[in-house]
Amino acid sequence: MEVSPRPTLFDFHGVSMIKCFTDNWDNVQNFEARPDDILIATYPKAGTTWVSYILDLLYFGQTCPERQVSVPLHERVPFLEISKASLPTGKDLADLLPTTPRLIKTHLPVQFIPKSFWEQNSRIVYVARNAKDNAVSYFHFGQMNKILPDPGEWNAFLTDFMDGKMVFGSWYDHVNGWWEKKQTYSNLHYMFYEDLIEDSGREMDKLCSFLGLSPSVEEKKRISTLSTFDNMKQNIMTNFSTVQYMNQTVSPFMRKGKVGDWKNHFTVAQNEQFDKDYKQKMKNPLLKIRCEV
Ligand code: A3P
Repeated sequence: MEVSPRPTLFDFHGVSMIKCFTDNWDNVQNFEARPDDILIATYPKAGTTWVSYILDLLYFGQTCPERQVSVPLHERVPFLEISKASLPTGKDLADLLPTTPRLIKTHLPVQFIPKSFWEQNSRIVYVARNAKDNAVSYFHFGQMNKILPDPGEWNAFLTDFMDGKMVFGSWYDHVNGWWEKKQTYSNLHYMFYEDLIEDSGREMDKLCSFLGLSPSVEEKKRISTLSTFDNMKQNIMTNFSTVQYMNQTVSPFMRKGKVGDWKNHFTVAQNEQFDKDYKQKMKNPLLKIRCEV
């Protein structure tokens, strides 16, 4: 495969971005959302794929079983803002989705969401993951995903993470921005990766209650089994093995799937500095994200 140079970050309306997520900007901003669309919004590496798969199974596991084995998840749930030469844009894939509801993924911070989602009162599922594990996962992902900037070495990466110099900007602004939005926009379900790890059945029930779905006990059990880390890692439709620009020999997309892997990466000094900085940036006592379960 042709090796393109790694992209560089630039400031885009106050958020660090790379070209493949801003090149299609006007089309993305003019995206025509529908009232029954479901937008899955996350900071990168917060569990987007996991929740996308659960949603896809809830809606289409029974009705479109052939799609489950023939269409990779990232096509069933297009990535709205992505635009890469020689591939269809996420926006075009979303427009062409044959299903209702359409499940659409985004990593955009809340202020960049196309206005039609708000106007149409579309449902939004936001997933947050604790900053430490999120940073570790993003670091490994940057190493294997050639469309992202080179993450460099861990210590400098962690400093950049704290400074918001990441693709899609500051983790702190992202999780806080979406949390604030939840206070005024009722069609937003805010969930946590750590809660899913702790009890995926309970979290699926909450998700179903938000969406007005009532799957049978057997169906929920089937979805829980299909969406375990090990099963998703084995499944070529969910493990991103069909994506050319990811080198899974460097680090697999389905890497560890744990809470607390940060302990294997943070030094004591890094952890102290991180905690101090975290307190300054995360002042809302209601937004608590666990670093262990
Ligand atoms: P790790 O790198 O810590 O393993 P995203 O889909 O937002 O890119 O997030 C990817 C992260 O979610 C990876 O974290 C991946 O392993 C984890 N993940 C994906 N599916 C999972 C599952 N079924 N259970 C637990 N973690 C999962």
